[in-house]
Amino acid sequence: MERLAGAASLEDLRGIEREFVGKEGSVSGLLAAIPTLSPDDRRVVGKGANLLKRDIQAGIDQKKGELEAAEIAAQRAGGDFDATLPGAPQTRGSLHPLTLVRREVEAIFVSMGYSVLDGPEVELDYYNFQALNIPADHPAREMQDTFYCDTQGNLVMRTQTSPVQIRAMERLKPPFRVIAPGRVFRNEEPDATHEHTFHQVEGLVVGEDITVGHLSGVLKGFLRQLFQKDIEVRLRPGYFPFVEPGFELDVRCPFCEEGCRVCKKTRWIEFCGCGMVHPRVLAAGGIDSEAWTGFAFGFGLDRLVMLRYGIDDLRHFMAGDLRFLEQF
Ligand code: DAH
Repeated sequence: MERLAGAASLEDLRGIEREFVGKEGSVSGLLAAIPTLSPDDRRVVGKGANLLKRDIQAGIDQKKGELEAAEIAAQRAGGDFDATLPGAPQTRGSLHPLTLVRREVEAIFVSMGYSVLDGPEVELDYYNFQALNIPADHPAREMQDTFYCDTQGNLVMRTQTSPVQIRAMERLKPPFRVIAPGRVFRNEEPDATHEHTFHQVEGLVVGEDITVGHLSGVLKGFLRQLFQKDIEVRLRPGYFPFVEPGFELDVRCPFCEEGCRVCKKTRWIEFCGCGMVHPRVLAAGGIDSEAWTGFAFGFGLDRLVMLRYGIDDLRHFMAGDLRFLEQF
């Protein structure tokens, strides 16, 4: 114990440890000799030697703690300790490109007086189809390969964000303007432009004397903000059961003057489905279609992100590959 008290460094301490309790140490030697003793001596010497070993080890451990603390204190007091040195670099994540563009889209619509709504991803068949004027035997159901969540067919993974239209009408009093971005699901074989999980942004405006002029004006205003330039649009007739009349809205290709790979040389890019809300859909949402009219639209967010960043394969979005994600 005196030797311990005198130990001035961790190196001294290691020497003491070796000398007494190490493999070749004297206490270990004592323990090793036990089998050669008489049974009575064995008991006495064994007990004593083990207690001794334990005490010495405890003393060493305590002294070790003291010496280590003293060493750190000495380093801190000494000239080479610099508390201002930067620590280990922190690795920071980044936002997914879908999140970046979704936030941009939300900010633009919020600036035009829209509220941003959310809706369930596991949805009642009623909201996903029936209330949107798509009855059980309607062929439009086959346009979208649905994941069913129960054997009765009451519960589905929503195939579109349009059910949020009904939920919005149930909760809000007209006039109102909302968008509802979110994930949607279809039983598709994934390829460069199809995934079982993708993203849409739904829009719904209900008010007095709302017309197709408002619809195209809003979408043009939105596109101008998004691409920071005027974008020509065209409406073609399109069929969606929840709007009448219904349209497909194309945008002038923002990337070329005379046709490119993105627009497949047509100079137009399909952007969204839209139209005037069908009176039956207003009624399903509890809104008097004599007093109110509205327009709705729904576009794919993934497509927009792909256009924005020049991404050529939709499957990158859900793959979780850091080599892709770290670029944003
Ligand atoms: N829900 C449609 C789809 O997934 C897109 C759509 C078309 C939404 C027309 C609308 C609309 O709100 O008016 O294909």
